[in-house]
Amino acid sequence: MSQSFKDKKVLITGSSRGIGRATALAFAREGADVVIHYRRDESAAFETAEEVRKLGVQALVCRAELESPEEIDVMFDTVEKEWGALDVFMANAAATAFKPIMETKAHHIGRTYEVVINSVLHAVQRAVPLMEGRNGRIITVSSLGSRFTLPRYANIGSAKAALESLTRYMAAEFGPNGITCNTISPGVVETDSVRFYAKDEFETFKANVISRTPIKRLTQPEDVAGLALFLASDAASFITGQVIGVDGGLTLISYGPDGR
Ligand SMILES: NC(=O)c1ccc[n+]([C@@H]2O[C@H](COP(=O)([O-])OP(=O)(O)OC[C@H]3O[C@@H](n4cnc5c(N)ncnc54)[C@H](OP(=O)(O)O)[C@@H]3O)[C@@H](O)[C@H]2O)c1
Repeated sequence: MSQSFKDKKVLITGSSRGIGRATALAFAREGADVVIHYRRDESAAFETAEEVRKLGVQALVCRAELESPEEIDVMFDTVEKEWGALDVFMANAAATAFKPIMETKAHHIGRTYEVVINSVLHAVQRAVPLMEGRNGRIITVSSLGSRFTLPRYANIGSAKAALESLTRYMAAEFGPNGITCNTISPGVVETDSVRFYAKDEFETFKANVISRTPIKRLTQPEDVAGLALFLASDAASFITGQVIGVDGGLTLISYGPDGR
């Protein structure tokens, strides 16, 4: 084990499950102390924190509803009190209502943008002062639905497009502080949320996506974790304001003359 993040302090939102969990464990394996953040699933958060601690590093468990700026503040107050510093902030958590546009109500849009945009803005305003003098890293997590259309995905797809833009603006404003800001855009990742999205059609969706992916499989949470580690590393210190895909080539493929 290289321990290349030894003693670094990392906060990943939504790190109790899925992509966030895999990324928290990947940082912990490299020696980082991590915040395991969750909203409802306390047992998943404590189980992940236990896995992290078995790796010989610290895990702080923080519950925060990201629709609430007050709860985000409590989480950052804890980080400030316990560590007084932060090296990596990864805005990973997301939630939405998957609906066709004609069935999408203002509150659906409002709640999605609250979690995907407003919470990130608020969290970054708390994270940046903690990164003072530490060459901080901000990583946001988007999805291919920001550029391509998917059924019932307009609500979160448009929020993710805004998140990519916000990340570029952060890169421009925080660059002079030595902070890089990049977006990871995963393909279709095998987690609870994609099963919730596809419902009974998950197996068909999976087979279709694999058939159109040059590297013949779905994205795994560990693929995203690997890119996050790279973006947080010294090797990526001059990469900022970018949207980087990790999708096995899924978004390269258009239809050929034979319709395939
Ligand atoms: N899965 C995919 O195919 C895919 C593809 C592209 C991009 N992404 C993006 O990758 C990220 C992670 O996705 P995932 O599939 O790993 O998600 P997931 O397995 O559904 O996990 C979601 C995490 O976010 C937390 N969370 C959800 N809503 C929250 C809220 N309002 N406040 C605080 N925490 C909240 C959950 O905590 P609790 O469990 O405690 O509620 C959980 O830890 C998301 O930004 C997603 O849009 C996913």
